[in-house]
Amino acid sequence: MNLNKLGQSLCTAARSQCGVELKHLNQAFKNTSRASSKMDDKFKLPARYGAGEKSVWVEYIQLAAEYKPKVNLGQGFPDYHAPHHVLKALSEIALSENPLLNQYTRGFGLPRLVQSLTKLYSPLVGQKIDPMNEILVTYGAYEALYAAILGHVDECDEVIVIEPFFDCYDFMIKAAGGEPRFIALAPKKTEGTITSADWVLDERELTSLFNERTKMIILNTPHNPIGKVFTKQELQLISDLCKKHNVLCLSDEVYEWMAYEPAQHIRIASLPGMWERTITVGSAGKAFSVTGWKTGWAYGPAALMKNLQVVHQNCVYTCCTPVQEAIARSMEYELARRDSPECYFKALARELMPKRDMLVDALKENGFNPTIPESGYFIVADWSKLATKIDLSQEPDKYKDYKFTKKFAKECGVLAIPPTAFYSAEHKHLGEDYVRFCFIKKDENLSLAGQLMSQWNIKKRK
Ligand SMILES: Cc1ncc(COP(=O)(O)O)c(C=O)c1O
Repeated sequence: MNLNKLGQSLCTAARSQCGVELKHLNQAFKNTSRASSKMDDKFKLPARYGAGEKSVWVEYIQLAAEYKPKVNLGQGFPDYHAPHHVLKALSEIALSENPLLNQYTRGFGLPRLVQSLTKLYSPLVGQKIDPMNEILVTYGAYEALYAAILGHVDECDEVIVIEPFFDCYDFMIKAAGGEPRFIALAPKKTEGTITSADWVLDERELTSLFNERTKMIILNTPHNPIGKVFTKQELQLISDLCKKHNVLCLSDEVYEWMAYEPAQHIRIASLPGMWERTITVGSAGKAFSVTGWKTGWAYGPAALMKNLQVVHQNCVYTCCTPVQEAIARSMEYELARRDSPECYFKALARELMPKRDMLVDALKENGFNPTIPESGYFIVADWSKLATKIDLSQEPDKYKDYKFTKKFAKECGVLAIPPTAFYSAEHKHLGEDYVRFCFIKKDENLSLAGQLMSQWNIKKRK
């Protein structure tokens, strides 16, 4: 065999070998893609979780990392330190002489913490709360909501949800097999000075939602994102309907210490006949400005709390011991000075009010129409008068508020949250003209946000 022939036969052998391998590869590929499409089918997200697939938090935290806005007024957390005694408590606990403070604790809540929560809330709801059976400590208010909804909502139960709503309510109701029924707060006016008290529910519409399938209504007061503090009269209407139709009230009160005078937060559980049908949710993250500690609680009558305990004990079982201990010590510290103006539960609103006013002024000066919140640390502002100054035509999102917040962050350097994330599909249009800003931020950052907005406006005039 000459060299040429040898080369040719090697090539043929190689090709035929390749052919065999390619055939194998093709077959293997077909098998894999068949298997993977079978796997895709088998392992797709269960339909009952579909409501939570898209999360505004995941998307906007990612955007913040991508755009690096000069000021992030998106997610609700302070960019400054919590009270010193709170931070000191946690820093001391890890190295304390008691090794058990770093080990598992009682599943339904560290005894010292549930004791202090009893002392705090019993006088506020006019009930002697049993710390061992009527309080559950959870991973943030989030888990308290989860345990309450999963623990009480059954297949085909209806749950009334007030819009705009904290977005996980929808997911949790559907995950439990229930059906959310939405009703939107609507502003009584859209021009001039608007406060969160102007956002109201239509009494007839609310009444019409209650029926024999209604298991629960979720109330959020003080309200995120509007800042509404439900009045005694409004709570009375909800309570009358709950009693008439034998419905539970899940009251999300994580902003309970942030009502701005003269507004006063009223706990619906304190209304006559409501303790026995109300589960109230609170958050240490919000109460002590330590959102990263992710510790919250639910309290209510033992008969209702039993169901939450079942979900909790099979889900997380017990929460972080040193964090619970630090919250218990912080709570005791505040309880000892609860009648003093220095008590953080009073000081917090005083500290936040000037921040609110600073951002309200900046927004008004820059073409937004903000709803002045009576509580909480968010401002919802109408941006529709800026529509002629911003070209949203290249923004691919479906809803105008998503387009606006993204383009505004890119052009102006201030990031905020699109409120349609807090509406059901059928009511998203109600949130499209608004944007949500968070103001629990350093004064210098709020002031920088104001400067950036006015520079943006000046540029747009040219
Ligand atoms: C209305 C509402 N409920 C519950 C939560 C969750 O609180 P936590 O951080 O304690 O889980 C938040 C957080 O922003 C909230 O705004």
